[in-house]
Amino acid sequence: MKTLVIVAHPRIDESRVNRAWVERLKKQPNVTVHELYKNYPNGNINIEREQRLLIEHDRIVFQFPFYWYSSPSLLKEWQDVVLSYGFAYGSEGNKLHGKDFVIAVSTGGPEGAYRAGGYNHYTMSELLRPFQAMANLTGMRYLPSFHLHGARTLTNEQIAESAEKLIEHITTV
Ligand SMILES: Cc1cc2nc3c(=O)[nH]c(=O)nc-3n(C[C@H](O)[C@H](O)[C@H](O)COP(=O)(O)O)c2cc1C
Repeated sequence: MKTLVIVAHPRIDESRVNRAWVERLKKQPNVTVHELYKNYPNGNINIEREQRLLIEHDRIVFQFPFYWYSSPSLLKEWQDVVLSYGFAYGSEGNKLHGKDFVIAVSTGGPEGAYRAGGYNHYTMSELLRPFQAMANLTGMRYLPSFHLHGARTLTNEQIAESAEKLIEHITTV
């Protein structure tokens, strides 16, 4: 099984969580780490290259920090241009059919904020619904997502531990 981790963090050099995850994932066999903001600092996405990467892998992971209850904007742009008609959807758009899809997301808010009655009112499963709908439409299998909450208050040890859990999650879910 070949896994493609598409990372979307606009300021990875200032990141604690996503940078630690990237560094750990890069050591993992059969995992390709693909950092969107590093590859496309001007936002000009190479569609053919991205589609080729998708075809070459069996499991697709979107990794990002939660920004305004969603992903940073380059990942949305990536979806808009890469998941095109005839490639990802439409009567002949079957290139992603049967692939696995996983989200790995870090949040500033604590776990308890993401529930009915909590500070953010909604669960992560509810807020990530557009990604689930994307997986459904493109014929990918939406697997349980990986969440790390309360990013600001985590110790370096907790972040390192989360990187190991992420590896376990994306290789076994
Ligand atoms: C523009 C912006 C929007 C954010 N929106 C949210 C949000 O909607 N919910 C949340 O829990 N945290 C939010 N955060 C906090 C980030 O998710 C958090 O800082 C990040 O996950 C930490 O990961 P990092 O160390 O890799 O940067 C936001 C941060 C920024 C800069």
